[in-house]
Amino acid sequence: MRQSEPDRHIGALTRRDALVAAAGVASAAMLAPGPGLAAARPIPFGSAAQIETFRADPRYRQALTSYCDVIVPMNDLKWEAIRHDRSRFDFSGADELVAFAERSGKSLRGHALLWGEALPPWAKEISTRAEAERELVQHIETVVDRYKGRIATWDVVNEVIKFEPLPGEPMRDTIWQRLLGPAHVEIAFRTAARIDPKARLVLNDFNFEEPGPGPAARRKIALDLCRRLKDKGIPVHGIGLQAHLYADKPLDIDGLQGFMVELGKLDLDVEITELDVIDWKLPADTATRDRAAASLVGTFLDAIVSVRRPKAIVTWGLSDRYSWVHETFPRKDGARARPLPLDADFRPKPMMAVLDRYRRSQS
Ligand code: G3I
Repeated sequence: MRQSEPDRHIGALTRRDALVAAAGVASAAMLAPGPGLAAARPIPFGSAAQIETFRADPRYRQALTSYCDVIVPMNDLKWEAIRHDRSRFDFSGADELVAFAERSGKSLRGHALLWGEALPPWAKEISTRAEAERELVQHIETVVDRYKGRIATWDVVNEVIKFEPLPGEPMRDTIWQRLLGPAHVEIAFRTAARIDPKARLVLNDFNFEEPGPGPAARRKIALDLCRRLKDKGIPVHGIGLQAHLYADKPLDIDGLQGFMVELGKLDLDVEITELDVIDWKLPADTATRDRAAASLVGTFLDAIVSVRRPKAIVTWGLSDRYSWVHETFPRKDGARARPLPLDADFRPKPMMAVLDRYRRSQS
C-alpha cells in the first residue's frame, strides 16, 4: 500500500517536537491542539460496542449509529462470552451487534480469536499441546465460519507479545504460549485464513508508541512475527495498534514513524484499534484534560498518517460514561476519567474535532 502523505508533514511534526523541547513539557500533549494534519481521504472511524450498554442506553445506540463507520464487539466475540462451557457456543451478544452493524451499513472488526485473557474457567484447564491445538482450531473454525463474509477484519491474536520483552523471551506467558509455543500464532492465522480467505487478518497489541527499549522491542517483535507468517505463506494483513495512550507520557514519534515505514516494507496495513486516553495523572480541570487528550491523539495520529494511512481508526468506546479506564486507572481525586471523544452526556469533546480531521472528507 503506498504511503499516503507527502514527507513534508514530517517537518511539521519535527517542529512540534522542537516546540515540546522548548516548552519543556513532557510531550506534545501539553500543547494546545495544533492545526494538525488532515487525511486526504476519509479514514473509516469506529468504536467498540458493549452489548449490555447497547441494549440499555438509547443514546449509546444513537451515538454508534451517528459517528461510526466501523463497529467492534468489545467483549462478545471473546472466549469468555462465547464459550460458557466446552460443548457449546453462545453467539447471542455478538449476533446482536453484528446485525446492528449490518442493518446500519457499518463494517465489522472481530475481536479476538486468540487471547490469553477473558477465557472461561474450562479453557484455563486445558493441559496438553494436543488439547490446546484442538480447542483453538475448533474455536476459530466455528467463529470465523459463522461470520464469514460478514466480519471483514479479525484481530486473530491479541496481546501475544511480552509486555517488557527480554532477550530470547519475546512472547507473553499465556496458556497458548505455554502449551503450543510461538506456533500458537501461526495456528491461529492459518486456521482463520483457511475458513475465510477474504477476511483481513491482524495481529493486535498495545504500547508500540512510547519511548524506550520495551516499546522498541515490541515493535520489532510484532514485525518479526508477521515476517515469519509471510515467510511461511500464512496470510497476515496488518498490525493493530491498540493505542491506549497515557496523557502523562511522551510519544516516540521517530519510533512510531519508523514502525510505519517497516510495515510498508512488509506490505502490512496499520489499524488503530482501541484508541483512548488515560488521563489519571493530569490536573483535575476538565478543559485542561480534554485539551491535552485531544492534542495527544492529534500528535499520535499525525505521526501515523504522515507515513502510512490507517485502514481504520477505532476508539475503545465513544462516551466517557462507559469506559474501562475509570475503574482500571482511578484518579486520586476521584474524578471520572475522560478518555473518549464524547463526554458522559454524549457531547463532542475536543478529541472528536481532532478525529473529524481524519474521518471526514477534506474536500
Ligand atoms: O458479561 C459478564 C456479566 O454477565 C457479569 O455479570 C459481569 C460481572 O462478573 O461480568 C461481565 O463480563 C465482563 C465483561 O467485561 C463485559 O462487561 C468481564 O467480567 C470483564 O472482565 C470484561 O472486561 C473487559 C476486558 O477487556 C476483559 O475482557 C472490558 O470491558 C474491555 O474494555 C477490555 O478490553 C480490552 C481489550 O479486549 C484488549 N485490549 C485491552 C482492553 C482494555 O482492557
